[in-house]
Formats: sequence, structure tokens, C-alpha cells
Amino acid sequence: MGFTATVGGRAVPCGEEQPILDAFLRAGVWMPNSCNQGTCGTCKLRVVSGEVDHHDSPADTLTDDERADGLALACQARLRSDTVVESTGAADGRTTHPLRDLVATVLDLEEIARDTLRLRLDLPEPLAFDPGQYVELVVPGTGERRQYSLANTADEDKALELHVRLVPSGVATEGWIFDGLTPGDRVEITGPLGDFVLPTEDDGGPMVLIGGGTGLAPLLGLVRTVLARDPQREVLLYHGVRGASDLYALDLLTELADAHRRFRFVPVLSHEPPPDGREHRTGFPTTHFVDDVASARGWSGWLCGPPAMVEAGVKAFKRRRMAPRMIHREKFTPADAAS
Ligand code: FES
Repeated sequence: MGFTATVGGRAVPCGEEQPILDAFLRAGVWMPNSCNQGTCGTCKLRVVSGEVDHHDSPADTLTDDERADGLALACQARLRSDTVVESTGAADGRTTHPLRDLVATVLDLEEIARDTLRLRLDLPEPLAFDPGQYVELVVPGTGERRQYSLANTADEDKALELHVRLVPSGVATEGWIFDGLTPGDRVEITGPLGDFVLPTEDDGGPMVLIGGGTGLAPLLGLVRTVLARDPQREVLLYHGVRGASDLYALDLLTELADAHRRFRFVPVLSHEPPPDGREHRTGFPTTHFVDDVASARGWSGWLCGPPAMVEAGVKAFKRRRMAPRMIHREKFTPADAAS
């Protein structure tokens, strides 16, 4: 049995155990979403009529007062009757690439940095997505899902590239991807998800992107997309890592820098200097941004990585006068980000 969820006059079927967000995204109806874990609050909506079960909505993301006030988290709530909701982001009739389940085949796995694999997945058919979005992988035999950003541009829609950092004792990494996943294996995926994407009305202004560790992945999709559209665009990309052996995609980034006069790539090492004594920047990329850019008025900023780095990045951008609406951050917590 199921119900009907309606937003902005558009009604979609929704199963009893299906999150409301899942129902809308599968129907191609845009609804703000980011973490899909109940932690960021991006998907908060108002229940206008009908009844919902808040399911696993955490109390610190959706307070008792908000529940009493008719708010719900679309990524957690389940319908208990036909329901009408209001969602600011969905009200303008915006559509999205429909959320889908696909079974992919592992093309290859390559160690690209310390404890970091590049996993490429071949899809049976193209998956439409926006650069910067992510997919969920189903960890076999566990019922668990893990989220990984796509490092692809939109036209690389049949061979997805994910960057996976080893998490000690991690059920998805140590227990699966790093331990026995091989070319030809089948992987269940769900996607695309997330709102870490270029605005529909991209103004073409200067961009700064800061990635920590494998937080570089979605930034590679975004950078290549904007430079293909406008080779003269001013783009500044920082990659923050612990040591030189954690850096990757250096050939690609060097090629981009050679081909695009106004693109700059700045690796920043927090703990370990390069073993060969090469010139390098130390510390944190957010500090270097403040030193490098006197004013970021009119810039957009993009952050993906450990939560502490993202918070520091937001502060650094605001300190340099970037408008809050121009600050974009990936809000799901990558499995390795806690470290
Ligand atoms: S709380 Fe629902 S998308 Fe983050």
C-alpha cells in the first residue's frame, strides 16, 4: 500500500517505508537535499496536510518545536496518509535528474595515493547527473550504504569515477572495496544525489574550491566543467592533505593549469613535508586562501572535506567578503572525514 505526496501541485506515489525525498527525486521533482542522513537539515519541509512518521529524524536536526510546528525532514519522514507538503526549493517547478538504482560493473581499481583508490564503475546505461553530485553504494551482505562523490563531468555518464579512502575497520572500505573488490564485480548503486552543483544561473564569476583528502573528487568534476564552458574563467583550487603521498590527480591538474592561464592549483600539506625537499605550502588551505585573496566579493566558494575544514572554509570566505549565498558546501560526511 502506498500514498500520494504532493508539492507545488505535483503529486507522486510514495510507498509506506519510502522517504518522501526519495519519492520526489525518483519522479524527477527537485527537492533540496544534501546529506540524506538526517544531519544537515537541507531537506526540511512543511507538512500542509496529512500525516507523517518522522522515522529516524534526529532531535538536533528536527527539534520537538519544529515537529509541533509541522516541519519534517524529507529524507527521513514516511507518509501515513496522502500528504501535501511545501518546500521552498521545490516550489518553483524545478526538475532534477531522476534518482535511480543501477547495477554497475567494476571497470578497474587503482591506488592513486596513500590508502586511496580510484574506483571506476561501468554502467549498463548512462546516468544523468550534475557534476558535484554523489551516489550511494550498497555494501553487500550488510544492508549498509556509503556515499561517494562523482569525480566526473556530465558527459562521462557511463563510467563513474569515485575516490575511496581506506577507513580502518570500515565495513565498506577495509571490509569490501580494499579487500577483494575486483574488476568485473557487480556493485549496486543509487544516484544521483545532493545539491553540490553549479547554479542554474551560473554568473561565470571567479571561483575558489577547497578540497580535503578525497573531498577533491567532486571539485574535479566542477572545475573541468566550468573550464570547458569558459577557458578564461578565474578558478583557484586548493587541495589540503596530510603529506605529499596523499596528493593525487597531479597530472590532470598540471594539464589544466598549462591549458588555462587563470586556473591555479595549490596543494597544501598539513603535516609531512615532501621527502625530496620540493617547494611546498604547509598548514591549511583555508589559511592560504585568506593570504592569497584580498577580496572574494563576487566570487563563489566550494568546500568538500572534513567538517572542521569546511567550517574553517566558510569563515575564511566570509572574512574575505564572499556573499553567504555564494558559499557551497558538500554536507554529507564522507566516511573518512572524521579523521
Ligand atoms: S537532513 Fe535531509 S538531506 Fe540532510
